[in-house]
Amino acid sequence: GRRRFISASTMAHPVHRPRRLRRSPVLREMVRETRLDPGDFIYPLFVVEGRDVRRPITSMPGIFNLSVEHAVAEARQAKSLGVPSVILFGIPDHKDALGSQAYARDGIVQRAIREIKAAEPDLQVIADVCLCEFTDHGHCGVLEGGHVVNDATLPLLAQMAVTCAQAGADIIAPSDMMDGRVGVIRRALDEVRLTDIPILSYAAKYASGYYGPFREAAQSAPKSGDRRGYQMDPGNVREALREVALDVEEGADMLMVKPALAYLDVIRAVRERFDLPLAAYNVSGEYAMLKAAGQNGWIDYERVMLETLTGIKRAGADLIITYHALEAAKLL
Ligand code: PBG
Ligand code: ZN
Repeated sequence: GRRRFISASTMAHPVHRPRRLRRSPVLREMVRETRLDPGDFIYPLFVVEGRDVRRPITSMPGIFNLSVEHAVAEARQAKSLGVPSVILFGIPDHKDALGSQAYARDGIVQRAIREIKAAEPDLQVIADVCLCEFTDHGHCGVLEGGHVVNDATLPLLAQMAVTCAQAGADIIAPSDMMDGRVGVIRRALDEVRLTDIPILSYAAKYASGYYGPFREAAQSAPKSGDRRGYQMDPGNVREALREVALDVEEGADMLMVKPALAYLDVIRAVRERFDLPLAAYNVSGEYAMLKAAGQNGWIDYERVMLETLTGIKRAGADLIITYHALEAAKLL
């Protein structure tokens, strides 16, 4: 047969064998390009009024609406697992047209900040700055004739930023998507001599269906219409770079892309063009999908979780805001 014409010396040996570096766990570990660390994570907390509240959020198994003392306990746990930071969302009992509890000195977020900082001074407490959890109409700003009015919203956001920073917040994170808010917040903080409080801007935030479970958790779904008039269109990436450039000009210290998984290319594009620290928000719907599939036994939850977080970091995120933070930190 034909086989005898092929001698051992002429047998083709591939010159390149990438598999050589995959032979053992130790080799794979040595050549791994992207490593997750609990220090990469920011853990979101949903704080509600009242005492001894620890109410499960149906669409986000493992995540709760917490009264302040439970939020403090959860923040402690984050710290003890090596997660350096939490981001706070407040759900007030009283909502009104202008979201007045968002910028009240004794508002739910301001109280939670004070208590958490008193209990864990080294934990970095990030205040999400937006009005939608505090307005009775559920929009992120002042509503007039079915539209969110940009410039009338700015002073309210600035006031929320200032009261949160005065309560002890370490970082201010505006998520409202009003034009010019980073600049207005920067000037407001500087005026009250909070010149050293950094701004983490939700610079490229898309109008996304993935926020569904969050709106259950924060009771912040708009009562009419949607957020497409201020959040970004999912088809756009050049616009994301413009949004980021504006926020950098206005004085943002850190940047964010949100959501993460359907926008990994946006994370990569922002990483390549800008040199500020970059966060990605692994949002509620992304968390809910993994939980649901895991609970059904359709995926290996822990494995897929770590793979997902690795993908977000590999795309270019330095920091990941994620509801998986504590579970992931325990595995790392
Ligand atoms: C509010 C805000 C939202 C999220 C963070 N801040 C929701 C929204 O814009 O409707 C979403 C977070 C998540 O889905 O996990 N401005
Ligand atoms: Zn909002």
